[in-house]
Amino acid sequence: MTTEPDSLVRELSSPSVWPDSAVNAPGGDVSLAGVSLAELAERHGTPVYVLDETEVRSRARAWRRALPDAEVVYAAKAFVCRAVVDWMAEEGLGLDVCSAGELELAATRGFPPERVVLHGNAKSPRDLRTALRIGVGRIVIDSDCEIARIASQVPKGAAQKVLVRVLPGIEAGAHRKIRTGAEGQKFGLSIAGGDAEDAVVRVLGQPGLALAGLHCHLGSQITSTEPYGEAVRRVVAFLARIRDRHGVTLPEVDLGGGFAAAYLPGDAAPSPEAYGRRITEELSAACADFAYPLPRLMVEPGRSIMAPAGVALYRVLSVKRTGAQVFVAVDGGMSDNPRPALYGARYTVRMVGRTTAAPMRATTVVGRHCEAGDILAEDVELPEDVRPGDVLAVPASGAYQVSMASGYNMTGRPPVVAVSGGRSRLLLRRETFEDQKARDVGV
Ligand SMILES: Cc1ncc(COP(=O)(O)O)c(C=O)c1O
Repeated sequence: MTTEPDSLVRELSSPSVWPDSAVNAPGGDVSLAGVSLAELAERHGTPVYVLDETEVRSRARAWRRALPDAEVVYAAKAFVCRAVVDWMAEEGLGLDVCSAGELELAATRGFPPERVVLHGNAKSPRDLRTALRIGVGRIVIDSDCEIARIASQVPKGAAQKVLVRVLPGIEAGAHRKIRTGAEGQKFGLSIAGGDAEDAVVRVLGQPGLALAGLHCHLGSQITSTEPYGEAVRRVVAFLARIRDRHGVTLPEVDLGGGFAAAYLPGDAAPSPEAYGRRITEELSAACADFAYPLPRLMVEPGRSIMAPAGVALYRVLSVKRTGAQVFVAVDGGMSDNPRPALYGARYTVRMVGRTTAAPMRATTVVGRHCEAGDILAEDVELPEDVRPGDVLAVPASGAYQVSMASGYNMTGRPPVVAVSGGRSRLLLRRETFEDQKARDVGV
Protein backbone atom coordinates (compact mmCIF):
# COMPACT_ATOMS: atom_id res chain seq x y z
CA MET A 1 0.00 0.00 0.00
CA THR A 2 1.27 3.48 -0.77
CA THR A 3 0.96 6.25 1.77
CA GLU A 4 0.84 10.02 1.69
CA PRO A 5 2.13 12.39 4.34
CA ASP A 6 -1.37 12.80 5.71
CA SER A 7 -1.91 12.46 9.44
CA LEU A 8 -5.50 11.32 8.92
CA VAL A 9 -4.44 8.16 7.22
CA ARG A 10 -1.96 6.91 9.76
CA GLU A 11 -3.48 3.50 10.11
CA LEU A 12 -3.59 3.05 6.34
CA SER A 13 0.17 2.75 6.49
CA SER A 14 -0.15 -0.61 8.20
CA PRO A 15 0.15 -3.03 5.32
CA SER A 16 -1.36 -5.85 7.31
CA VAL A 17 -4.79 -4.37 8.05
CA TRP A 18 -5.80 -3.08 4.62
CA PRO A 19 -5.75 -5.00 1.35
CA ASP A 20 -2.53 -4.55 -0.62
CA SER A 21 -4.31 -2.48 -3.26
CA ALA A 22 -5.55 0.19 -0.80
CA VAL A 23 -4.14 3.65 -1.47
CA ASN A 24 -4.96 7.09 -0.19
CA ALA A 25 -6.84 9.10 -2.78
CA PRO A 26 -7.52 12.84 -3.08
CA GLY A 27 -10.12 14.40 -0.80
CA GLY A 28 -9.49 12.01 2.09
CA ASP A 29 -10.69 9.08 0.04
CA VAL A 30 -9.24 5.59 -0.10
CA SER A 31 -9.28 3.54 -3.25
CA LEU A 32 -9.28 -0.23 -3.34
CA ALA A 33 -8.13 -1.95 -6.53
CA GLY A 34 -8.44 1.46 -8.16
CA VAL A 35 -12.05 2.01 -7.04
CA SER A 36 -13.01 4.89 -4.72
CA LEU A 37 -14.59 3.78 -1.44
CA ALA A 38 -16.46 7.07 -1.10
CA GLU A 39 -17.98 6.49 -4.55
CA LEU A 40 -18.98 2.94 -3.69
CA ALA A 41 -20.72 4.19 -0.53
CA GLU A 42 -22.57 6.76 -2.64
CA ARG A 43 -23.54 4.34 -5.41
CA HIS A 44 -24.61 1.34 -3.30
CA GLY A 45 -25.66 3.07 -0.10
CA THR A 46 -24.43 2.01 3.31
CA PRO A 47 -23.67 -0.24 5.01
CA VAL A 48 -21.87 -1.92 2.13
CA TYR A 49 -19.08 -4.51 2.13
CA VAL A 50 -16.30 -4.21 -0.42
CA LEU A 51 -14.24 -7.27 -1.31
CA ASP A 52 -10.90 -7.05 -3.11
CA GLU A 53 -10.92 -10.02 -5.50
CA THR A 54 -7.18 -9.93 -6.16
CA GLU A 55 -6.45 -9.97 -2.44
CA VAL A 56 -8.68 -13.03 -1.97
CA ARG A 57 -7.11 -14.85 -4.88
CA SER A 58 -3.54 -14.03 -3.90
CA ARG A 59 -4.15 -15.21 -0.33
CA ALA A 60 -5.66 -18.44 -1.65
CA ARG A 61 -2.61 -18.89 -3.87
CA ALA A 62 -0.25 -18.16 -0.98
CA TRP A 63 -1.77 -21.11 0.88
CA ARG A 64 -1.27 -23.39 -2.10
CA ARG A 65 2.36 -22.26 -2.43
CA ALA A 66 2.94 -22.73 1.31
CA LEU A 67 1.74 -26.34 1.22
CA PRO A 68 2.21 -27.51 -2.37
CA ASP A 69 1.55 -31.17 -1.56
CA ALA A 70 -1.50 -30.50 0.59
CA GLU A 71 -5.13 -29.98 -0.26
CA VAL A 72 -6.13 -26.43 0.67
CA VAL A 73 -9.83 -26.31 1.43
CA TYR A 74 -11.43 -22.88 1.82
CA ALA A 75 -13.81 -22.65 4.79
CA ALA A 76 -16.95 -21.27 3.17
CA LYS A 77 -18.40 -20.22 6.54
CA ALA A 78 -16.02 -17.22 6.52
CA PHE A 79 -17.93 -15.82 3.53
CA VAL A 80 -19.33 -17.44 0.46
CA CYS A 81 -21.35 -16.47 -2.57
CA ARG A 82 -21.29 -17.76 -6.14
CA ALA A 83 -18.33 -15.59 -7.17
CA VAL A 84 -16.27 -16.83 -4.21
CA VAL A 85 -17.07 -20.43 -5.18
CA ASP A 86 -15.72 -19.66 -8.67
CA TRP A 87 -12.58 -17.97 -7.34
CA MET A 88 -11.78 -20.96 -5.15
CA ALA A 89 -12.42 -23.40 -7.98
CA GLU A 90 -10.15 -21.40 -10.30
CA GLU A 91 -7.39 -21.14 -7.68
CA GLY A 92 -7.44 -24.91 -7.17
CA LEU A 93 -8.79 -24.94 -3.62
CA GLY A 94 -11.38 -27.26 -2.12
CA LEU A 95 -14.44 -26.09 -0.22
CA ASP A 96 -15.36 -26.79 3.41
CA VAL A 97 -19.14 -26.55 3.78
CA CYS A 98 -21.35 -27.17 6.78
CA SER A 99 -24.87 -27.16 5.41
CA ALA A 100 -26.92 -28.30 2.45
CA GLY A 101 -27.28 -24.61 1.55
CA GLU A 102 -23.53 -24.03 1.18
CA LEU A 103 -23.25 -27.32 -0.66
CA GLU A 104 -26.09 -26.52 -3.09
CA LEU A 105 -24.54 -23.11 -3.75
CA ALA A 106 -21.24 -24.75 -4.69
CA ALA A 107 -23.10 -27.20 -6.92
CA THR A 108 -24.84 -24.38 -8.81
CA ARG A 109 -21.39 -23.29 -10.00
CA GLY A 110 -20.29 -26.82 -10.87
CA PHE A 111 -17.69 -26.86 -8.10
CA PRO A 112 -15.92 -30.26 -8.26
CA PRO A 113 -17.76 -32.30 -5.57
CA GLU A 114 -14.72 -34.44 -4.84
CA ARG A 115 -13.04 -31.27 -3.53
CA VAL A 116 -15.85 -30.61 -1.03
CA VAL A 117 -15.62 -31.51 2.67
CA LEU A 118 -18.85 -31.59 4.69
CA HIS A 119 -18.62 -30.58 8.34
CA GLY A 120 -21.02 -30.09 11.21
CA ASN A 121 -21.46 -31.29 14.75
CA ALA A 122 -25.14 -31.93 13.98
CA LYS A 123 -25.74 -32.60 10.31
CA SER A 124 -29.39 -32.50 9.35
CA PRO A 125 -31.03 -35.23 7.25
CA ARG A 126 -31.06 -32.73 4.37
CA ASP A 127 -27.33 -32.01 4.77
CA LEU A 128 -26.50 -35.70 4.54
CA ARG A 129 -28.94 -36.43 1.71
CA THR A 130 -27.53 -33.54 -0.32
CA ALA A 131 -23.92 -34.53 0.39
CA LEU A 132 -24.50 -38.10 -0.74
CA ARG A 133 -26.50 -37.03 -3.80
CA ILE A 134 -23.88 -34.54 -4.93
CA GLY A 135 -21.06 -36.94 -4.03
CA VAL A 136 -18.83 -34.88 -1.72
CA GLY A 137 -15.22 -35.93 -1.39
CA ARG A 138 -15.32 -36.34 2.40
CA ILE A 139 -17.76 -36.18 5.27
CA VAL A 140 -16.25 -35.37 8.64
CA ILE A 141 -17.75 -37.48 11.40
CA ASP A 142 -18.26 -35.48 14.55
CA SER A 143 -20.33 -37.80 16.71
CA ASP A 144 -20.95 -41.45 17.24
CA CYS A 145 -24.58 -41.33 16.30
CA GLU A 146 -23.99 -40.19 12.74
CA ILE A 147 -21.80 -43.18 11.81
CA ALA A 148 -24.62 -45.66 11.21
CA ARG A 149 -26.87 -42.89 9.89
CA ILE A 150 -24.45 -41.99 7.09
CA ALA A 151 -23.54 -45.60 6.36
CA SER A 152 -27.19 -46.59 5.98
CA GLN A 153 -27.72 -43.99 3.26
CA VAL A 154 -24.74 -44.99 1.11
CA PRO A 155 -25.87 -47.07 -1.90
CA LYS A 156 -24.97 -50.78 -1.73
CA GLY A 157 -21.50 -51.50 -3.06
CA ALA A 158 -20.33 -47.90 -2.66
CA ALA A 159 -18.26 -46.41 0.18
CA GLN A 160 -18.35 -42.77 1.28
CA LYS A 161 -14.96 -41.35 2.24
CA VAL A 162 -15.03 -40.02 5.80
CA LEU A 163 -12.68 -38.46 8.33
CA VAL A 164 -13.14 -38.70 12.10
CA ARG A 165 -12.89 -35.34 13.84
CA VAL A 166 -10.74 -35.76 16.93
CA LEU A 167 -10.17 -33.51 19.92
CA PRO A 168 -6.46 -33.26 20.50
CA GLY A 169 -6.99 -31.48 23.84
CA ILE A 170 -5.26 -28.23 22.88
CA GLU A 171 -6.35 -24.76 24.04
CA ALA A 172 -5.83 -22.31 21.18
CA GLY A 173 -7.77 -19.43 19.67
CA ALA A 174 -8.56 -15.82 20.46
CA HIS A 175 -11.68 -16.38 22.58
CA ARG A 176 -13.29 -19.13 24.64
CA LYS A 177 -16.16 -19.34 22.12
CA ILE A 178 -13.85 -20.16 19.22
CA ARG A 179 -11.57 -22.71 20.92
CA THR A 180 -12.60 -26.01 19.46
CA GLY A 181 -9.55 -28.18 20.08
CA ALA A 182 -9.98 -28.43 23.85
CA GLU A 183 -11.98 -30.90 25.91
CA GLY A 184 -15.38 -29.83 27.19
CA GLN A 185 -16.97 -28.20 24.12
CA LYS A 186 -19.37 -29.51 21.52
CA PHE A 187 -17.04 -30.42 18.64
CA GLY A 188 -15.04 -33.54 17.94
CA LEU A 189 -14.33 -36.82 19.71
CA SER A 190 -11.82 -36.93 22.52
CA ILE A 191 -8.54 -38.78 21.95
CA ALA A 192 -7.72 -38.79 25.66
CA GLY A 193 -11.19 -39.95 26.70
CA GLY A 194 -11.25 -42.84 24.19
CA ASP A 195 -14.27 -41.57 22.19
CA ALA A 196 -12.18 -40.99 19.08
CA GLU A 197 -10.83 -44.55 19.09
CA ASP A 198 -14.32 -46.00 19.64
CA ALA A 199 -15.57 -43.99 16.65
CA VAL A 200 -12.67 -45.17 14.48
CA VAL A 201 -13.49 -48.80 15.31
CA ARG A 202 -17.17 -48.29 14.53
CA VAL A 203 -16.41 -46.59 11.21
CA LEU A 204 -14.03 -49.39 10.25
CA GLY A 205 -16.88 -51.82 10.83
CA GLN A 206 -19.16 -50.09 8.32
CA PRO A 207 -18.75 -51.35 4.74
CA GLY A 208 -20.49 -48.20 3.44
CA LEU A 209 -17.80 -45.95 4.90
CA ALA A 210 -14.16 -45.62 3.84
CA LEU A 211 -12.14 -44.14 6.69
CA ALA A 212 -9.55 -41.91 5.02
CA GLY A 213 -8.08 -40.29 8.10
CA LEU A 214 -8.45 -37.88 10.99
CA HIS A 215 -9.56 -34.29 11.21
CA CYS A 216 -9.01 -31.72 13.92
CA HIS A 217 -9.77 -28.02 14.13
CA LEU A 218 -8.16 -26.19 17.02
CA GLY A 219 -10.12 -22.96 16.97
CA SER A 220 -9.96 -19.61 15.25
CA GLN A 221 -7.66 -16.58 15.20
CA ILE A 222 -4.70 -18.66 16.37
CA THR A 223 -1.79 -16.24 16.23
CA SER A 224 1.05 -18.72 16.74
CA THR A 225 2.24 -21.72 14.76
CA GLU A 226 3.00 -23.70 17.94
CA PRO A 227 -0.49 -25.17 18.55
CA TYR A 228 -0.39 -26.68 15.04
CA GLY A 229 2.92 -28.35 15.83
CA GLU A 230 1.43 -29.82 18.99
CA ALA A 231 -1.72 -30.93 17.15
CA VAL A 232 0.34 -32.69 14.49
CA ARG A 233 2.31 -34.57 17.15
CA ARG A 234 -0.83 -35.70 18.98
CA VAL A 235 -2.70 -36.67 15.82
CA VAL A 236 0.24 -38.66 14.41
CA ALA A 237 0.68 -40.42 17.76
CA PHE A 238 -3.00 -41.37 17.58
CA LEU A 239 -2.68 -42.53 13.96
CA ALA A 240 0.20 -44.77 15.03
CA ARG A 241 -1.91 -46.16 17.87
CA ILE A 242 -4.73 -46.97 15.45
CA ARG A 243 -2.26 -48.73 13.19
CA ASP A 244 -0.77 -50.72 16.06
CA ARG A 245 -4.08 -51.71 17.64
CA HIS A 246 -6.35 -52.04 14.64
CA GLY A 247 -4.01 -52.78 11.77
CA VAL A 248 -4.99 -49.85 9.51
CA THR A 249 -2.71 -47.11 8.24
CA LEU A 250 -4.92 -44.10 7.59
CA PRO A 251 -3.58 -41.95 4.77
CA GLU A 252 -5.04 -38.46 5.47
CA VAL A 253 -4.76 -35.74 8.12
CA ASP A 254 -6.89 -32.60 7.98
CA LEU A 255 -5.70 -29.92 10.40
CA GLY A 256 -8.70 -27.61 9.91
CA GLY A 257 -8.33 -23.84 9.88
CA GLY A 258 -7.91 -21.17 12.52
CA PHE A 259 -5.02 -19.22 10.99
CA ALA A 260 -5.02 -15.63 12.21
CA ALA A 261 -5.76 -12.41 10.36
CA ALA A 262 -4.58 -8.97 11.51
CA TYR A 263 -7.44 -6.76 12.71
CA LEU A 264 -5.34 -4.07 14.40
CA PRO A 265 -1.99 -2.72 13.22
CA GLY A 266 0.68 -4.84 14.81
CA ASP A 267 -1.57 -7.89 15.33
CA ALA A 268 0.32 -11.16 14.97
CA ALA A 269 -0.78 -12.99 11.83
CA PRO A 270 1.82 -15.50 10.66
CA SER A 271 2.03 -15.98 6.90
CA PRO A 272 0.72 -19.17 5.26
CA GLU A 273 4.39 -19.95 4.63
CA ALA A 274 5.18 -19.79 8.38
CA TYR A 275 2.22 -22.00 9.31
CA GLY A 276 3.01 -24.31 6.41
CA ARG A 277 6.67 -24.68 7.36
CA ARG A 278 5.86 -25.50 10.98
CA ILE A 279 3.19 -28.02 10.02
CA THR A 280 5.38 -29.73 7.41
CA GLU A 281 8.38 -29.95 9.72
CA GLU A 282 6.36 -31.32 12.63
CA LEU A 283 4.57 -33.79 10.39
CA SER A 284 7.85 -35.16 9.00
CA ALA A 285 9.38 -35.38 12.48
CA ALA A 286 6.34 -37.02 14.09
CA CYS A 287 5.97 -39.52 11.24
CA ALA A 288 9.67 -40.38 11.51
CA ASP A 289 9.31 -40.92 15.27
CA PHE A 290 6.44 -43.36 14.78
CA ALA A 291 7.70 -44.86 11.52
CA TYR A 292 4.41 -43.75 9.99
CA PRO A 293 4.19 -43.02 6.24
CA LEU A 294 3.65 -39.30 5.55
CA PRO A 295 -0.11 -38.81 5.32
CA ARG A 296 -1.73 -36.54 2.76
CA LEU A 297 -2.30 -33.21 4.46
CA MET A 298 -5.32 -30.94 4.28
CA VAL A 299 -5.86 -27.48 5.78
CA GLU A 300 -9.03 -25.38 5.87
CA PRO A 301 -8.21 -21.66 6.05
CA GLY A 302 -11.18 -19.31 6.05
CA ARG A 303 -10.49 -16.08 7.93
CA SER A 304 -6.88 -15.72 6.78
CA ILE A 305 -8.00 -15.71 3.15
CA MET A 306 -11.13 -13.60 3.43
CA ALA A 307 -10.87 -11.20 6.42
CA PRO A 308 -8.05 -9.01 5.06
CA ALA A 309 -9.76 -8.64 1.68
CA GLY A 310 -12.93 -6.96 2.96
CA VAL A 311 -13.73 -3.39 3.97
CA ALA A 312 -17.06 -2.42 5.53
CA LEU A 313 -18.42 1.06 4.83
CA TYR A 314 -20.94 2.78 7.07
CA ARG A 315 -22.44 6.25 7.22
CA VAL A 316 -22.53 8.17 10.47
CA LEU A 317 -26.08 8.76 11.74
CA SER A 318 -25.38 10.53 15.02
CA VAL A 319 -22.61 11.80 17.26
CA LYS A 320 -23.20 11.95 21.00
CA ARG A 321 -21.03 12.89 23.94
CA THR A 322 -21.92 11.03 27.16
CA GLY A 323 -19.71 12.01 30.06
CA ALA A 324 -16.15 11.59 28.87
CA GLN A 325 -17.14 9.28 26.00
CA VAL A 326 -17.89 10.16 22.40
CA PHE A 327 -20.26 7.78 20.63
CA VAL A 328 -20.42 7.83 16.85
CA ALA A 329 -23.42 5.78 15.72
CA VAL A 330 -23.49 4.33 12.22
CA ASP A 331 -26.16 2.83 9.99
CA GLY A 332 -25.09 -0.81 10.57
CA GLY A 333 -23.85 -2.70 13.58
CA MET A 334 -24.36 -6.09 15.15
CA SER A 335 -26.75 -7.19 12.40
CA ASP A 336 -23.94 -7.09 9.82
CA ASN A 337 -21.03 -7.63 12.25
CA PRO A 338 -21.80 -9.63 15.38
CA ARG A 339 -18.11 -10.33 16.13
CA PRO A 340 -17.48 -7.57 18.68
CA ALA A 341 -20.58 -8.61 20.66
CA LEU A 342 -19.78 -12.33 20.36
CA TYR A 343 -16.03 -12.35 20.94
CA GLY A 344 -14.99 -8.85 21.94
CA ALA A 345 -13.37 -8.47 18.49
CA ARG A 346 -11.45 -5.22 17.88
CA TYR A 347 -11.16 -3.13 14.68
CA THR A 348 -9.66 0.06 13.36
CA VAL A 349 -11.89 2.65 11.74
CA ARG A 350 -11.12 5.59 9.49
CA MET A 351 -13.14 8.30 7.88
CA VAL A 352 -13.14 8.38 4.07
CA GLY A 353 -14.24 10.93 1.51
CA ARG A 354 -13.51 14.16 3.40
CA THR A 355 -10.38 15.89 4.64
CA THR A 356 -10.22 17.76 7.91
CA ALA A 357 -7.64 19.52 9.99
CA ALA A 358 -9.46 18.62 13.22
CA PRO A 359 -7.39 16.74 15.78
CA MET A 360 -8.07 13.09 16.42
CA ARG A 361 -9.75 11.88 19.59
CA ALA A 362 -10.73 8.55 21.15
CA THR A 363 -14.18 7.59 19.91
CA THR A 364 -16.48 4.60 20.28
CA VAL A 365 -18.21 3.57 17.09
CA VAL A 366 -21.55 1.94 17.83
CA GLY A 367 -24.26 0.39 15.71
CA ARG A 368 -27.90 1.37 15.38
CA HIS A 369 -29.42 -1.69 17.02
CA CYS A 370 -31.41 -1.99 20.20
CA GLU A 371 -28.66 -3.50 22.35
CA ALA A 372 -26.18 -1.66 24.55
CA GLY A 373 -23.61 -4.26 23.43
CA ASP A 374 -23.99 -3.16 19.81
CA ILE A 375 -20.49 -1.67 19.70
CA LEU A 376 -18.46 -1.92 16.49
CA ALA A 377 -15.15 -0.45 17.62
CA GLU A 378 -14.16 0.87 21.01
CA ASP A 379 -11.55 3.56 21.53
CA VAL A 380 -10.65 4.27 17.93
CA GLU A 381 -9.09 7.50 16.76
CA LEU A 382 -11.45 9.64 14.67
CA PRO A 383 -11.37 13.35 13.88
CA GLU A 384 -13.12 15.55 16.45
CA ASP A 385 -15.39 17.01 13.79
CA VAL A 386 -16.79 13.65 12.56
CA ARG A 387 -20.47 14.29 11.84
CA PRO A 388 -23.66 12.73 10.47
CA GLY A 389 -23.24 11.88 6.80
CA ASP A 390 -19.53 11.04 7.04
CA VAL A 391 -18.44 7.65 5.71
CA LEU A 392 -16.44 5.36 7.98
CA ALA A 393 -14.42 2.44 6.67
CA VAL A 394 -13.62 -0.68 8.72
CA PRO A 395 -10.84 -2.81 7.22
CA ALA A 396 -10.34 -6.54 7.89
CA SER A 397 -14.08 -7.07 7.49
CA GLY A 398 -14.14 -9.88 4.93
CA ALA A 399 -14.74 -12.88 7.21
CA TYR A 400 -17.51 -13.91 9.62
CA GLN A 401 -19.40 -10.65 9.21
CA VAL A 402 -21.71 -10.85 6.19
CA SER A 403 -21.82 -14.63 6.61
CA MET A 404 -23.07 -14.16 10.18
CA ALA A 405 -25.38 -11.23 9.38
CA SER A 406 -28.84 -11.42 10.89
CA GLY A 407 -32.27 -9.96 10.33
CA TYR A 408 -32.24 -8.08 13.63
CA ASN A 409 -34.42 -4.96 13.60
CA MET A 410 -35.26 -5.65 9.93
CA THR A 411 -32.55 -3.30 8.72
CA GLY A 412 -31.77 -5.64 5.80
CA ARG A 413 -28.52 -7.49 5.25
CA PRO A 414 -25.89 -5.42 3.41
CA PRO A 415 -24.74 -5.78 -0.18
CA VAL A 416 -21.28 -7.07 -1.13
CA VAL A 417 -19.38 -5.44 -3.98
CA ALA A 418 -16.25 -6.94 -5.53
CA VAL A 419 -13.49 -4.67 -6.81
CA SER A 420 -10.68 -5.57 -9.17
CA GLY A 421 -8.68 -3.83 -11.87
CA GLY A 422 -10.36 -0.46 -11.37
CA ARG A 423 -13.89 -1.86 -11.69
CA SER A 424 -16.57 -2.88 -9.25
CA ARG A 425 -19.42 -5.34 -9.52
CA LEU A 426 -22.24 -6.22 -7.20
CA LEU A 427 -22.01 -9.78 -5.83
CA LEU A 428 -24.81 -9.74 -3.28
CA ARG A 429 -27.54 -7.12 -3.41
CA ARG A 430 -28.96 -5.48 -0.31
CA GLU A 431 -31.82 -7.34 1.39
CA THR A 432 -34.89 -5.18 0.93
CA PHE A 433 -38.13 -4.80 2.80
CA GLU A 434 -39.76 -6.63 -0.12
CA ASP A 435 -37.50 -9.64 0.57
CA GLN A 436 -38.47 -9.56 4.22
CA LYS A 437 -42.16 -9.14 3.48
CA ALA A 438 -42.11 -12.06 1.07
CA ARG A 439 -41.16 -14.41 3.93
CA ASP A 440 -43.92 -13.12 6.17
CA VAL A 441 -46.69 -15.34 4.86
CA GLY A 442 -49.00 -15.52 7.90
CA VAL A 443 -51.67 -13.10 9.09
C1 LIG B 1 -13.98 -27.34 10.80
C2 LIG B 1 -13.53 -25.97 10.49
N1 LIG B 1 -12.60 -25.80 9.54
C3 LIG B 1 -12.16 -24.58 9.20
C4 LIG B 1 -12.65 -23.45 9.82
C5 LIG B 1 -12.13 -22.12 9.40
O1 LIG B 1 -11.50 -21.45 10.42
P1 LIG B 1 -10.79 -20.07 10.14
O2 LIG B 1 -11.73 -19.23 9.38
O3 LIG B 1 -10.50 -19.54 11.49
O4 LIG B 1 -9.55 -20.39 9.36
C6 LIG B 1 -13.61 -23.57 10.82
C7 LIG B 1 -14.15 -22.40 11.50
O5 LIG B 1 -14.95 -22.40 12.37
C8 LIG B 1 -14.08 -24.88 11.16
O6 LIG B 1 -15.01 -25.06 12.09
